[in-house]
Amino acid sequence: MSDHDQLPEHHTAVQGTTPGQADQTLTTRQGHPVRNNQQQRTVGTRGPATLENYQFLEKISHFDRERIPERVVHARGAGAHGVFEAYGKVGDEPVSKYTRAKLFQEAGKQTPVFVRFSTVIHSSHSPETMRDPRGFAVKFYTEDGNWDLVGNNLKVFFIRDAIKFPDVIHSLKPDPVTNRQDGGRIFDFMSNTPEAVHMLTLLFSPHGIPANYRHMQGSGVNTYKWVNDRGEAVLVKYHWEPVQGIRNLTQPEAEAIQAKNINHATQDLYEAIERGDFPQWELLVQIMSDDEHPELDFDPLDDTKIWPREQFPWLPVGKMTLNRNPENYFAEVEQAAFGTGVLVDGLDFSDDKMLVGRTFSYSDTQRYRVGSNYLQLPINAPKRQVATNQRDGQMAYRVDTAPGQNPHVNYEPSSMNGLTEAPRDVPEYTPWVEGHLQRAPIERTNDFQQAGEQYRAFEDWERDDLIGNLVENISAATPEVQARMVELFTQCDPDYGRRVAEGLAAHAASRAAKEEGAVQQAEERSREAQPY
Ligand code: HEM
Repeated sequence: MSDHDQLPEHHTAVQGTTPGQADQTLTTRQGHPVRNNQQQRTVGTRGPATLENYQFLEKISHFDRERIPERVVHARGAGAHGVFEAYGKVGDEPVSKYTRAKLFQEAGKQTPVFVRFSTVIHSSHSPETMRDPRGFAVKFYTEDGNWDLVGNNLKVFFIRDAIKFPDVIHSLKPDPVTNRQDGGRIFDFMSNTPEAVHMLTLLFSPHGIPANYRHMQGSGVNTYKWVNDRGEAVLVKYHWEPVQGIRNLTQPEAEAIQAKNINHATQDLYEAIERGDFPQWELLVQIMSDDEHPELDFDPLDDTKIWPREQFPWLPVGKMTLNRNPENYFAEVEQAAFGTGVLVDGLDFSDDKMLVGRTFSYSDTQRYRVGSNYLQLPINAPKRQVATNQRDGQMAYRVDTAPGQNPHVNYEPSSMNGLTEAPRDVPEYTPWVEGHLQRAPIERTNDFQQAGEQYRAFEDWERDDLIGNLVENISAATPEVQARMVELFTQCDPDYGRRVAEGLAAHAASRAAKEEGAVQQAEERSREAQPY
């Protein structure tokens, strides 16, 4: 048993065995029984409070520190525990042909998971009905350590290079002066970012507001690699399909829910699990050989593109069931830390320019948001032995040693019973890389084709809904920004651009008519109000 597994037992033992203390006795964090939790100590009945009142100071100063910084994105979320069961195959082929990752190998093999779903832009208590991508982050506690698959519900993203992430997020976050989200700012950025038009076409369609977390898809979005036991790699994309089906909300449906409940998705997930109605998702992958694919009209490392399903079929590899709610929201959901760098043997990175940036960003922010020892927290720690020579730092909770490790040796190599490297028993994956160091855009941008195909694939009502949602939001932008957005949609499909342009013109005319009417009414009221 690892140190980590022993911790809860140790806690119970200490709390339960203080002599003369009933099990439910309130204590301070120092273990002192609290005999009066109603009054502070004061001089006399009405005199000043005293500063040596440790019990009060501990309580109030801990309260003062109850919040940690919320996630800079994806602050609003809900989580659950569950299990992933492998099929042992990828489609009809043995999975070992493509990856040696142990969690996928045998049919029926189970791996515990923790999942956090989220919205992206607004803060931790914002409504869950917003038109916003949804996060879908899964932590697999595998025998080889943790694997995090940090995805979204939609299958593409706004940008294709991580250096633009702070900009796209700033445009979507509230205005730094007015503190309000502003369509004028959002579309100012988007109209200068043509690669965003595919994502916008999905986000403003009827698929832009999932009904809840149980009825939505998931996608890794970025391109990863699988590596087999011969050290050969393929490119992969991951998809989660909800067994309970996909459901979305229209804008009016979302607004009706929001008027009464800003927590509906958190509530839905929690209550379904409590009543034993465990949500399930199938994990599917798309596979491509690991090369540049000049025959394709997009770059496989460009996350603004989908890989067409007809060419790259979705191959099932396993199923996930969520079957246990967190016992404590803060400890498990708020402190959970996922990252794209967290891979196990047999899974690898591609050179997707978003993925490499994300991989730095997650653990960087978590060292700040949660603390330098965030990986020692039970929700983040692997469920296998952790043995490192890393020591100390804020909130160090335990020493990650192996049984029998000499506690004096926190370095490697050593001949005094320290930790040793794992055997090099698998061929290392060593891709060949060469080229000039440069700041180069992805060459095959093709920003409009897939967005146009998506527009044409929608049913009539979906196109109507898309146009209505876009017009409503883009109308907040300046005429120049509106014109640039129309130009982008026109390049996707002339009908798309024409309909947004007509919608914006009609919206402007109706706003002008309303303003005119309001002026006339005000003049009439002011005439009627004249006493003489
Ligand atoms: C959360 C950065 C793109 C999915 C976060 C967080 C950061 C971040 C800093 C907060 C993490 C925390 O506080 O624990 C970035 C950067 C990106 C990027 C720099 C682009 C370069 C994406 C994309 C996806 C995504 C494309 C979808 C595939 C998520 C999810 C979370 C998250 C699901 C929430 C994880 C959780 O539930 O704790 N991201 N992100 N991000 N990001 Fe990204």
